[in-house]
Amino acid sequence: MFLGYTGGLKLESFNMVANHAIRQVAEDAIFGANTQAQKAISEYGFNNVINGTIGVFLDDEGILVTFDSVFNALRELKDESFAAYAPLNGINEYLDTAIKTTFGDYKPDGFIEAVATPGGTGAIRHAVWNYSSWGEEILTSDWYWDPYNTIATEHGRKISTYKLFDEKMNFNFEDFESKVELLLDKQKRLIIIINSPAHNPTGFSLSYDEWLGIIEMLKRKASSNQNKIVLFIDIAYIDFCEDESRRFLSLLSNLPKNILSIVSYSMSKGYTFYGLRSGAIIGVSSNKDVAIEFKNACSHSNRGVWSNGTRCAMEVLTKIYRDESLLEKVEKERNHYKEMLKIRANSFMKASEEVGLEICPYKDGFFISIPSNDPIGLAKELSKEKVFLVPLEMGLRFAVCSVSQEKCKITPRLIKEAMKRI
Ligand SMILES: Cc1ncc(COP(=O)(O)O)c(C=O)c1O
Repeated sequence: MFLGYTGGLKLESFNMVANHAIRQVAEDAIFGANTQAQKAISEYGFNNVINGTIGVFLDDEGILVTFDSVFNALRELKDESFAAYAPLNGINEYLDTAIKTTFGDYKPDGFIEAVATPGGTGAIRHAVWNYSSWGEEILTSDWYWDPYNTIATEHGRKISTYKLFDEKMNFNFEDFESKVELLLDKQKRLIIIINSPAHNPTGFSLSYDEWLGIIEMLKRKASSNQNKIVLFIDIAYIDFCEDESRRFLSLLSNLPKNILSIVSYSMSKGYTFYGLRSGAIIGVSSNKDVAIEFKNACSHSNRGVWSNGTRCAMEVLTKIYRDESLLEKVEKERNHYKEMLKIRANSFMKASEEVGLEICPYKDGFFISIPSNDPIGLAKELSKEKVFLVPLEMGLRFAVCSVSQEKCKITPRLIKEAMKRI
């Protein structure tokens, strides 16, 4: 969970909101840290500040990266493509394309259905609402993207966690299995959210063999047909990983009917479409009825929550995949930034090793995390050096996606020194 700098209950003597909507009011940690960084930038200049708080791709000068190929395609659309409603489930060709690009060469066997959602966030929301009951616990790792918690609590559910890493900083399969068992014993139904590859906030990715172990274990748990398991795979950052990282998706083939796999598709990172809000919830089942039920439940949720999605974003995706040369241009542009991300992350990791800074095992993605017993204290100490990171419950998050290689190289030493001072 992210920690705010100014948390605390807002003690009101009078509430207009209903009881369930009376919540703890805490400043969002990311926005809080970013506001501080922006203030420092205006005082000391961009070059003298390291702002590792922003979770979108920025160039070395701190400007938001947008893919020309994608935005040119967007500009070529007719006004109707912006103005008209999209079908409730999303444009069919868009959904087919989302399925094709999600699985690449690793499409699992089974019945696959998809419904368009506003980004991957929408997919998480529909899964939480339709596949867990009021008050139930949803399982994810102890390092996790805080909106999982917001979405769970918004819908009267809770997040429960397993330890992502063991003492050797390897995937903690043992703790994962024991929490799956515990919650299945208690609830008989369980949503498990796994954000891999390129986990936010750590950059950890499960290997193919680790996925194999997870799927085998879930099959064992599903041998009791009282148990219902929903494996939710959040792949928000997969377009910035190697194609090979999709290989595990073929393991979703022919699972027992009481395991439903859900994969969330997002255009936010892979097409720099963050604000255009386009994604999809994709369900994979060995059972046709389960797949149809999935489609119907998510369609109903679309109508009941946000109606339909952003038509022009869907049309851009279909336009890209209809035109090989345009697709090549998009991939070329994305590959350029993929490479930049790799260089930045490698610089950060190398410098961490040199100064003996312990970091979580990074493999891919936009973020690297540094474990700490005092994340808020450490973030405050670093801010004195004009270095800004996001304090989480178990450490600090550094956004390699938005910091130049030069700055990535010097940050680990500054963190290590700040750790010694507190
Ligand atoms: C881990 C994770 N999952 C899902 C998302 C969803 O993003 P969007 O709703 O923009 O697709 C994000 C975005 O930051 C994320 O970090």
